Amino acid sequence: MRKKVIAGNWKMNKTPSETKQILTQMKDKISTDGVDVLFCVPAISLTGAVEAVSGTDIRIGAENMFYEEQGAYTGEISALMLKDAGAEYVIIGHSERRQIFGEDNDMINKKIIKAIEHKIVPIICCGETLEQREAGETIDFVDGQIKSAYSSVSKADALNTIIAYEPIWAIGTGRVATSAQAQEVCAAIRKCLSEIYDDETAANIRVLYGGSVNASNAAELFAMPDIDGGLVGGASLKPEFCDIVEAGRNN
Ligand code: PGA
Repeated sequence: MRKKVIAGNWKMNKTPSETKQILTQMKDKISTDGVDVLFCVPAISLTGAVEAVSGTDIRIGAENMFYEEQGAYTGEISALMLKDAGAEYVIIGHSERRQIFGEDNDMINKKIIKAIEHKIVPIICCGETLEQREAGETIDFVDGQIKSAYSSVSKADALNTIIAYEPIWAIGTGRVATSAQAQEVCAAIRKCLSEIYDDETAANIRVLYGGSVNASNAAELFAMPDIDGGLVGGASLKPEFCDIVEAGRNN
């Protein structure tokens, strides 16, 4: 039985002091009983976020990292730094990183390997554009992203990763994938994982859906057999996130 994960992705929102305030208010309204809850926040807010949720089972993650440990990489942040700041998860390969910052599959694979090496759980993002969906290329495209992401990742390490299927056309648009569309791709991802590894491994890796998840659509999405929770952007900054967590606990 896979435990559901409800992860917030705050993107480039909220200052460090606002982060502390919001998390301090939200933490008492969230029950983590039976569900993993985490917030991925901007790197500069990590230590404050960790402090704000201390004493609870809420976890903190980062939104990105570089694949080298140190050196002349101005502006970048390493796994060592994330770890020291208390991040236990890191989002890798979000479509905004791929599209705006030019991250490719190869770079994303290196980041995943480095996160695993430092025992930070990577939340590996994948998902198609609207054009790819309309051209019927969704499954092939996502399969390619998954195969590349897990290249040189052992079975044991793969079990400590999380995947987030996020169709690009559904991110921040209010246009959520139907539960059937999301289920179809999440099931295809699991099939791809069983080809890379085996059925048992595939059955144990958690696959989340992301893209305009909110308090009204969460329960239906999370009830699908291959959807193990959500990566939540906009709604994770609002009190409704607590209802999304509840939907995760109850489905
Ligand atoms: P959204 O973002 O929930 O605001 O659509 C999801 C994401 O990009 O992770």
